[in-house]
Amino acid sequence: MADRKTQKLLEGLQGDLERELKATLQYMYQSSMVLGLRALNVGPYLRQEAEAELKHVAFLSDQIVNLGGVPKLATQKFSDARDLKTMLEHDLDLERESILEYRERAKQAEQAGEVGLKLRLEELLAEETDHMRDLEKILRGWQ
Ligand SMILES: [Fe+2]
Ligand SMILES: [Fe+2]
Repeated sequence: MADRKTQKLLEGLQGDLERELKATLQYMYQSSMVLGLRALNVGPYLRQEAEAELKHVAFLSDQIVNLGGVPKLATQKFSDARDLKTMLEHDLDLERESILEYRERAKQAEQAGEVGLKLRLEELLAEETDHMRDLEKILRGWQ
């Protein structure tokens, strides 16, 4: 039976897994739904994001098993906005949420004595920060 700190970490990772699954589905849906001329560049960008988030799903799922847990691949309702600007704003919200959560998760991993996992979570945090910056840049120049 996992100790209390590991249990807390596992609960947090499960929440992360669900959010990453949501992000994967949201980006995947958007990458298909984006229409018009913008589909030529924004479509592949969103598809690439979906693939990056799917890698996060796989990583978290494996980490939960490594810590003695069982990953639940449950989905949260994702944004089905049709307007591109609204789509990207919803993506930005999700990236910001991920950054806050991974900051907390890295702390929890350290407290549970999982130093290697802490480093990996910080790498995730850095990736999500890149995603956030890209979206902020796109939205800042919106016209
Ligand atoms: Fe992610
Ligand atoms: Fe992301």
